[in-house]
Amino acid sequence: MGRLALFTGCLTQVAMAASAPPQLRLQDGHYGLFVDGAPFTILGAQVHNSSNYPEALKKVWPAVKDLHANTVEVPVAWEQIEPVEGKFDFSFVDTLLREARQNKVHLVLLWFGTWKNTSPQYTPAWVKLNNQRFPRMLDKEGKNSYCLSPLGEQTLQADRKAFTALMSHLKKADGEQHTVILMQVENEVGTFGAVRDFGPKAQAAFERDVPAAVLAHKKPLATGAAKGSWRAVYGDYADEYFHAWAIASYIEEVAKSGRAVYDLPMYINNALRDPTEPLAPWKNNFSAGGPTYDVIDIYKAVAPHIDIVAPDLYMAESDKIKAVLGQFQRPDNALWVPEVGNAEVYARYLYQVLGSGSLGVSPFGMDYFDYANFPLGAKLTDQRMVAPFARVFAAFAPMQRQWARWAFEGRTHGVAEGDDHADQTVLMKGWKAKVTFGQWSFGEKDWPSNSKELPPHAARTDGGVAIAQIADDEFVLVGQFARVRLEALEGGDRAQLISAEEGQFDQNGHWLMERRWNGDQVDWGLNFTAHPLVLKVKMGSYR
Ligand code: DGJ
Repeated sequence: MGRLALFTGCLTQVAMAASAPPQLRLQDGHYGLFVDGAPFTILGAQVHNSSNYPEALKKVWPAVKDLHANTVEVPVAWEQIEPVEGKFDFSFVDTLLREARQNKVHLVLLWFGTWKNTSPQYTPAWVKLNNQRFPRMLDKEGKNSYCLSPLGEQTLQADRKAFTALMSHLKKADGEQHTVILMQVENEVGTFGAVRDFGPKAQAAFERDVPAAVLAHKKPLATGAAKGSWRAVYGDYADEYFHAWAIASYIEEVAKSGRAVYDLPMYINNALRDPTEPLAPWKNNFSAGGPTYDVIDIYKAVAPHIDIVAPDLYMAESDKIKAVLGQFQRPDNALWVPEVGNAEVYARYLYQVLGSGSLGVSPFGMDYFDYANFPLGAKLTDQRMVAPFARVFAAFAPMQRQWARWAFEGRTHGVAEGDDHADQTVLMKGWKAKVTFGQWSFGEKDWPSNSKELPPHAARTDGGVAIAQIADDEFVLVGQFARVRLEALEGGDRAQLISAEEGQFDQNGHWLMERRWNGDQVDWGLNFTAHPLVLKVKMGSYR
């Protein structure tokens, strides 16, 4: 588990530690990101790739506010902090810290260094233009790739120095306040169009034996040797695995050095390979060497200073989202979704992600800069783009601390409407929730009158529900465009809804009831509509 704290203390004690540094903790198989000493749900907003300048922030804060985000993810570019080698400029970081505090949000900083979406585009000119000192990867014919080699010693030294300077500055500027709660090291690493570096140094390393740490984490192929060269052990996967090892080793050095001066939790993000097609060796179909699900073990083996390997969700299909969440949520890897597309179709997945025990989730491109990353995300760049996500975050925001605590205790569940609109069942302790979609709030789907005219949302896939089982017979539900029926796992005929209250938890965790749902509002299950809201529900069984 590397550098993780195993959690044994009592939550109320740690909640007192208001100035404790951010920390990732693991308890009974569940992860929590502790901020100011208590679990915290990141309701994030990731800004555009060029919004890392003071002037650009003016278009960020209004969107962050509209979104009800509590955390903003912002790039810090190597070219920006070290335009001249050895001369650092942290003025943007200082502005960002000041304005984030004024806006009462936390920050996740994204280190755009050697690799940003695999490319060196964010490195300073003195790196970009000096291939002798900062070599690019070579192909089999010895031709330069666009991508910097992970085996470039001087590149590593220079990146590590810049990142460590950033961490050292953060320690001075933020070591008390902890506005920054998480660091992303590099961005969507890997290489497109080449499976690995074929330069002489890389080739020599490729022909050496697979390091013992890798072997201990990543099993040899069934047809491979138990140890030996990469090819002997990993066959047709050898090139991809080797490249993953090379990049992970590089990132480990950067992260380790940064954490030595200021120990914040750190993660890396991933441009996914197809999560549902059968696993096969790289065939120019994803960025090789990045932390795709099949090489998480290699990253864990060589990069213990990286706490989390996180998926960026830009595949809108529900079966793919489900597969990805399963692939990245592991006993040795906390689920954290630092990017999800900002098209409306993704909004429902916030329930699934937040209900799955994730540390949080962050739609990408949440600022009012006039740039749309359609077809990956939305066509819109204004409040209409933010609104579908804002509605969900608004429901979670007041109770984000409780939600994080329930997640850390393993009490939360989440579903998003599948592309097939099929019913879903959530199994809990003693109870199950049946979740259905695409119907009117009154009556049953199969009533002739109801099936004759379906509600407009039936043709869409906007439904989602997150449920926390906060006590044996008590539940907190948040949802939209879905109907939930709670049923006992045993003695279902004697189970009864005792109360369903609409309301909100305040910042101190006290429940503020706004109304009790009864009569029509409960006779047909608990119906969530276009306006996400929070219900606190008690169930019981009569004898
Ligand atoms: C994923 C990257 O991590 C982001 O920085 C951004 O480039 C999006 N893709 C595309 O908008």
